[in-house]
Formats: sequence, structure tokens, C-alpha cells
Amino acid sequence: MLARTTAAALAIGATFALGAAWTASWAQGGGGPVAAAPSPAPAHPAPQPTAVQPSSAQIGQARAAVKEMGEALKQRLMAAIKAGGPISAISVCKTIAPALAQQTGAARGLKIGRTALRVRNPANAPDAWERGVLEQFAAQIKAGVDPSKLEHAEVVTNASGASTFRYMKAIPMRAEPCLLCHGAPEPALKAEIDRLYPQDQATGFRPGELRGAFTVSAPAAAAAAP
Ligand code: HEC
Repeated sequence: MLARTTAAALAIGATFALGAAWTASWAQGGGGPVAAAPSPAPAHPAPQPTAVQPSSAQIGQARAAVKEMGEALKQRLMAAIKAGGPISAISVCKTIAPALAQQTGAARGLKIGRTALRVRNPANAPDAWERGVLEQFAAQIKAGVDPSKLEHAEVVTNASGASTFRYMKAIPMRAEPCLLCHGAPEPALKAEIDRLYPQDQATGFRPGELRGAFTVSAPAAAAAAP
């Protein structure tokens, strides 16, 4: 992060501001990235020296993928708890979550995962960009924004000029069924979690807090030429 060029740093500043604008419009029921929708490409596009904006098509794909994965995961989780109790449902989170992420992503050419500031599985730990977005989400929740409305999209350009579309959507902590395994798990459940995840940091959450986020990436579509 520290090695980013000034231009990249400016770009990030700009898109973070844009992210905040979306959050506002989304929270008011506006439903979309007002500022991000690109107008149809003119015959001679004007040069875009600043940030490349994420394409609204790619944002739509990311939203759809995350919604599909979230719903499927919740359904599988509830069914597993009902069928065999929370201890057996741990396997849903352990094996089915990554499998669903793979499936829903592959169908759309996206890479999907889940991450958090405090993770159960160290493989889900955030990278620097994800950490920044999670911290921004946490600050917005603290300021009173509804966590189920928080999302952020950005085109991130690396040092060698490759542009990646990145999208995150906040996952709020809920009472049902999340508290079972991310609140204060009862001893047998806690023992099984500790056996499978000796580095677990994902307990002690309260409903309404930020539990984590879905994170999506793909090569940026239709990046404007410099
Ligand atoms: C039956 C226990 C159980 C329940 C109930 C449960 N989880 Fe989890 N959760 C887990 C396990 C186990 C993992 C680690 C999965 C892995 O290995 O990737 C996990 C991982 C996560 C992660 C990924 C980040 C990390 O910590 O590794 C998020 C986000 C998450 N859970 C959110 C939720 C939310 C939101 C709910 C309620 C809808 C919920 N969980 C309910 C067991 C549970």
C-alpha cells in the first residue's frame, strides 16, 4: 500500500468518496451507483486521466453473485442445523461455503470469497485493500448506517498497470443462527470449533455488528484507455 504511486492513491481517494455516495443513495432506496453508471461510449472518448470507474454491468454481476451465494449458504446452514444440530452444521461453513463461492463465481467469471477483520479460518484473512474497506464499513456502522446496505466497488490498478474490478458487500452479524457459532458457543460446540480452527478469532460478535463481508474480484471490464 505504501508503495502506491500518487496517481493510484488519488484514485483510491476518489473511489472511496464515490463508495460513500452510493451508500447514501442505496440507503435512501435509490438502489444503485448513481455516479458510476457510464454513459454510452462516444465515438471519440475523452481521455480519463483519473480513476477508472467500475462498470455498472460488473457491479450488477457481483451483486447477483453475492446475493445468490448468501441465500444458498443461509439455506444450507439452516437445514443442517435443523437436521443434525450446530456441531454437524460446522461442516456446512467449512466445506460448503468455499464450494458455493466457487460455483457462483465460476458461473459469472468472478472470484468470490468471505473475509472479516476477525476471521475463523485464517485462509479468509483480508488483504490490505479488503482490510481498508472492512474498516470503512465498520466506521459507517458505528456512525449509524444500516450494515445490510453497505457495499463498495472499485477498479484497483497495480504497479504493472493491470486493472482489477473489486467489490465488497458487508455481512451483518445476526442473532439467528449466527450467534450459535459466532457469539458465545456452548462448550461442546466451542471445542469442535477450536479443534478445526485453533486460531479462531470469530466469536464474541453481537447482532448488528459487522461480521465480515463478501469479497469479489475479476479482471476489470471495459477499462478506459489511458
Ligand atoms: C454452525 C456454526 C456456524 C454458524 C451457525 C454460522 N457460522 Fe459463520 N463460520 C462458521 C465456520 C466453521 C466458519 C469457517 C469457514 C471456513 O473454513 O471458511 C465460518 C466463517 C464465517 C465467515 C468467513 C470469515 C471467517 O471468519 O473465516 C463469515 C463472514 C461468517 N462465518 C458469517 C456468519 C454469519 C453472518 C452467520 C449467520 C447467518 C454465520 N456465520 C453462522 C461457523 C458458523
